[in-house]
Amino acid sequence: MIRVAGSSSQLFISFTVPKARHPNFSDIQQASNEAIANANNRCGIKSREWRGVSLKRIGVVTSGGDAPGMNAAIRAVTRIAHSKNCRVYGFERGWEGLIMNAFRELTPRSVGGIIQLGGTILHTSRCLEFESEEGVGKAAKTLASNGIDGLVVIGGNGSFKGAFELSKQTNTLIVGVPASIDNDVFGTDETIGFDTAVNTAVDEIDKIRDTAISHERIFIVEVMGRTRGFLASTVGLTVGAEIILVPEVKFETGKIVTRLEENHAKGKKSGIIVAAEGVGDTRKLGAEIEKDAGTEVRLSVLGYAQRGGSPTARSRLLASLFADKAVELLSHEDGNSVVGLLNGRIEALDIRKSCETEKPIDLGLLDLANVLAS
Ligand code: F6P
Repeated sequence: MIRVAGSSSQLFISFTVPKARHPNFSDIQQASNEAIANANNRCGIKSREWRGVSLKRIGVVTSGGDAPGMNAAIRAVTRIAHSKNCRVYGFERGWEGLIMNAFRELTPRSVGGIIQLGGTILHTSRCLEFESEEGVGKAAKTLASNGIDGLVVIGGNGSFKGAFELSKQTNTLIVGVPASIDNDVFGTDETIGFDTAVNTAVDEIDKIRDTAISHERIFIVEVMGRTRGFLASTVGLTVGAEIILVPEVKFETGKIVTRLEENHAKGKKSGIIVAAEGVGDTRKLGAEIEKDAGTEVRLSVLGYAQRGGSPTARSRLLASLFADKAVELLSHEDGNSVVGLLNGRIEALDIRKSCETEKPIDLGLLDLANVLAS
């Protein structure tokens, strides 16, 4: 028996299990859904309509570099799927878990208390074996032998390329949920974890700014981003960097030196250069600037701190919205797509298109940062 009590803003739902028969998983889920729907109706909240097919088992995997908010996405996939009477299996250590058939069942309770955690409770890896057709074949077999109807892949570009290869060898529907601090996935304006990484870098650089001003020094701060400059351009603008270097725009050391000399003449005795890791050897660059400009230059490489930490509210929100869309797509038997945020809406794009298209960087952001740093 189910009891629903409380005011419209506070509901308590409790179960009394009949003694004669042990309820199975779907009994409980069904009862819980009905209770919530009834309670919501009573207090005027319209239940979301669910016209999808009945999925039985969803797999979820986090792959590639970890990103803050991956746990929030695992939690959301699990709870949304369970609310539709679907069981969820979390594969361990990225693609390795699919190759090795290593998974654990996730329940609404087992994903409790993780929304605020960085990293991924499922662990992740960069799996070499998955780069071979044979490795992908093993993963496909794992999906088939466990009766997985749909797989949610939480990761970045590399993971989606892997997912696309897997889709060629399996009938399991696959949906990608973009999570990467690099924000370099085509089909979404923002990836889960990007906002957190930006804020982490901004916090660090604000501190470095204190030293730069005190010592009247130039600092080069190297941020991550792999081969792209999304992180560097957003971080650079938001810390008020004097110069931003990204792989997408060629630069000359001579021009950087001239800019610093002009700044010095204007009374700016210190400065921050935010450089994406993809621009090359920042240590060498620092030495060249120091020599040519005749000023002290220090290098600070922010590194892996950018990948960790508690996700910001925005990263958690994106994780929840993306997961909702991913489960919805699967329930409509709509696989082989990547979900994303496009112009304020949660959309889906063909996974192949996402993998094969380079996301353009916003050069306007760099122009604006330039003006703001004057
Ligand atoms: O993709 C995220 C990222 O942190 C990149 O910014 C960086 O280049 C890369 O991963 C580092 O990879 P790894 O964890 O394999 O050292």
